[in-house]
Amino acid sequence: MAFVNLKPGTLLAPVPAVLVSCARKGEKPNAVTIAWAGTVNSDPPMVSVSVRPERYSHDIIEETGEFVVNLCGEKNLQATDWCGVKSGRDFDKFKECGLTAVSVEGMEAAPAIAECPIYLACKVRKVERLGSHDMYIGEIVSMGISDELLDETGRIDYNKANLVAYNHGAYYGLGEALGFFGYSVAAPDVLERRMAQLK
Ligand SMILES: Cc1cc2nc3c(=O)[nH]c(=O)nc-3n(C[C@H](O)[C@H](O)[C@H](O)COP(=O)(O)O)c2cc1C
Repeated sequence: MAFVNLKPGTLLAPVPAVLVSCARKGEKPNAVTIAWAGTVNSDPPMVSVSVRPERYSHDIIEETGEFVVNLCGEKNLQATDWCGVKSGRDFDKFKECGLTAVSVEGMEAAPAIAECPIYLACKVRKVERLGSHDMYIGEIVSMGISDELLDETGRIDYNKANLVAYNHGAYYGLGEALGFFGYSVAAPDVLERRMAQLK
């Protein structure tokens, strides 16, 4: 085996593709698809989204200092792709995609998207001008999950969200669970029980 060298690029994968919603007070909300997003701190919980300055959403996030990260389930994929190829300059994306804006605790105007399974509402704490993108580091100040994710016992079943991964230009559903945090060192009985729970 030998490696073939490639020109440095954005090859990290898989990554999420999320719908980031934002709004100025009194104006229509907008949603932009973002793949350059990630968890960057646990306490306080923080995520980053990297947005090119030419995006319509960029100035809204810059001015309002807030955004909402909406996770993409399989049922949201069509809207997620569409919001990634059309601009809020030309369209009311919520209307075009049949999305419902829901107001969120702690946000002045940025809404959550009712059709998405999970939202993370963020206040911008830091901006890094990196070159092609401005990275907004947001503290999660409130979160919500759809009640459709609750199982019969009232526990959250994240599998029900059917989240989508973005892998080198294409969208994928998540396959079967292959393991869990620490499974490589779990006792055999724990391994068997936990893996059965993940099926
Ligand atoms: C899968 C996917 C991922 C994307 N990721 C990003 C990203 O991380 N940052 C970014 O600035 N644009 C990204 N885009 C492009 C924007 O979503 C796109 O330019 C969009 O039309 C901008 O919308 P707006 O002008 O309403 O803000 C992505 C598009 C797709 C389809």
